[in-house]
Amino acid sequence: MSGSFDERAATWDDDPGKLERAREIADAVRASVPLEPSMRVLEYGAGTGLLTQHLVDQVGPVTLTDPSQGMREVLAAKCADGVFPDARVVDLDLARDPVPTERFDLVLSMMVLHHIVDLPPVLVGFAQLLEPGGWLAIADLEREDGSFHDEGFEGHHGIDRDDLAGWLADAGFVSVGFRDAGATIKHDRPYPLFLATAQRGSDS
Ligand SMILES: C[S@@+](CC[C@H](N)C(=O)[O-])C[C@H]1O[C@@H](n2cnc3c(N)ncnc32)[C@H](O)[C@@H]1O
Repeated sequence: MSGSFDERAATWDDDPGKLERAREIADAVRASVPLEPSMRVLEYGAGTGLLTQHLVDQVGPVTLTDPSQGMREVLAAKCADGVFPDARVVDLDLARDPVPTERFDLVLSMMVLHHIVDLPPVLVGFAQLLEPGGWLAIADLEREDGSFHDEGFEGHHGIDRDDLAGWLADAGFVSVGFRDAGATIKHDRPYPLFLATAQRGSDS
């Protein structure tokens, strides 16, 4: 899978739809999470970092992770250009790698979950990455009819909100909530997006 993202990384930001999608989701994050300048933030599956780009001025140190080398190269170039002051770029796939020992106050992700076949262990990893009370904010496709991706796609046809709420509770998250987060246009039609937010409970 990283192969196709490696190839698309250099031109990812040329698509105005992706830029607009990131802007709308950043607005939804701001409306749901009390951002603070001290917050240590990890964006998971950051791609070219479009979501964090909108939030970087309102939070503390940023860690941008992605398993695609091509995406990490774009992130490293943006760091060198000063787009992300005080950021680190890390190769991380929680379906493959151990959970890092560092802890964060906010974990973000945008359009990543539907690519992960076995989601519950990755959500447990998100909980482990967070301090107790830390925030999770994940945006993804609402359940769709399977037309978003090409035939042969092995991930999810969007994510069902009730399924996700159950997996988050099982992973030790509390105060799970959802809000609409705009839509992404593909094949000349809108595919609605949601933002799910939750906080790591104290005992997970
Ligand atoms: C649709 S792109 C979204 C990129 C970026 N978040 C955005 O919305 O512009 C999906 C991203 O998830 C990454 N990804 C795929 N599988 C992953 C996994 N198991 N763990 C972490 N990231 C993954 C890909 O490398 C890719 O950068």
